[in-house]
Amino acid sequence: MPVPFLDLRAQYESIKGEINPAIQNVIESSAFALGPAVEHFEKQFAAYCGVKHCIGVSSGTSAITLLLKAHKIGPGDEVITAANSFLASAEGITHAGATPVLVDVLESTGNMDPALLEAAFTPKTKAILVVHLYGQPADMDPIIMIAKKRKLLVFEDAAQAHGAKYKGKRAGALADGSSFSFYAGKNLGAYGEAGAVLTNDDSIAETIRMLREHGSKKKYEHEIIGFNERMDGIQGAVLSVKLRHLDAWNTLRRKHAGRYREKLKGVGDLHFFEELPECEGNYHLFVVRTAKRDALKTHLEKAGIGVGIHYPIPIHLQKAYASLGGKKGDCPVAEKLSKEILSLPMYAELTEKQVEEVCGAVQDFF
Ligand SMILES: Cc1ncc(COP(=O)(O)O)c(C=O)c1O
Repeated sequence: MPVPFLDLRAQYESIKGEINPAIQNVIESSAFALGPAVEHFEKQFAAYCGVKHCIGVSSGTSAITLLLKAHKIGPGDEVITAANSFLASAEGITHAGATPVLVDVLESTGNMDPALLEAAFTPKTKAILVVHLYGQPADMDPIIMIAKKRKLLVFEDAAQAHGAKYKGKRAGALADGSSFSFYAGKNLGAYGEAGAVLTNDDSIAETIRMLREHGSKKKYEHEIIGFNERMDGIQGAVLSVKLRHLDAWNTLRRKHAGRYREKLKGVGDLHFFEELPECEGNYHLFVVRTAKRDALKTHLEKAGIGVGIHYPIPIHLQKAYASLGGKKGDCPVAEKLSKEILSLPMYAELTEKQVEEVCGAVQDFF
């Protein structure tokens, strides 16, 4: 029986009765750009995360850019982020005009290694953008402690961490501001592109609201040069419906992750990333590690099982960032992980039978 990597159709079937009228409402009201559906979602998501303001934007990448720009971080400034992330963590920094500085990650969690921060600081460093990779919150306390000593800002790239918790607080509420992506495949995914910025600061929130809409508070009065990075009304409506299900979906993901861990423990040389005791991950991805990654990937694909690699090339070795001068050996852990990691099917609607099927195929391989 084939098992897809992700099954968005199955999720839609389970919420069709709520989604269709919500989309219909937006179409009938013609509030396509921002509007009441987006405002409603912003309030709901801010309350869910425990943060004062949520500003809906067009993507997770623009969320990073606007968050940094609102804090006046730009040309001549450096922002530290993790080498093993989706390229957008760095791109968001670049689009703000600043320079990304990539640090290596911990082998145990795949998240930023706080011990490497000191060596990455320069007089140009303005902020640290922490990525909660695969939906497992990074260990924020040591990072914030180091940053405070230097009066640096700490932001979260929570693009993969909707609903995840660190010491009882939601990801996105752990530092000086955060960005989310609602790309369709995320735990909280739109039916198109969307993102959000979260902040407790009233004036930063106001600036981001202006930046996302051509620098204006009032139509056709432009106070600053901004962008068109508004969230669509339809996405706001879809996200409000889905937010009601997020906790239940994350619970199911955690259950599937538990099963994978149980069934695959001790199989071949497979091993897993740690979930820190103070964290509750949302299992955006379930990632295993093996020296035989490429052969296992081929075997699973032949068996009809969808898999992925997140990510095959660390950011410092991407051609797009050749100008930063990164070279092999700069981030040895991220480089090693990129050759060993494999993401297995993971979504709330996975059935027990499908999880068994995946585990059986992995066991067959070894
Ligand atoms: C860690 C991380 N940061 C940023 C982004 C960018 O989000 P978007 O694709 O919505 O621009 C993503 C999306 O995949 C991501 O995974």
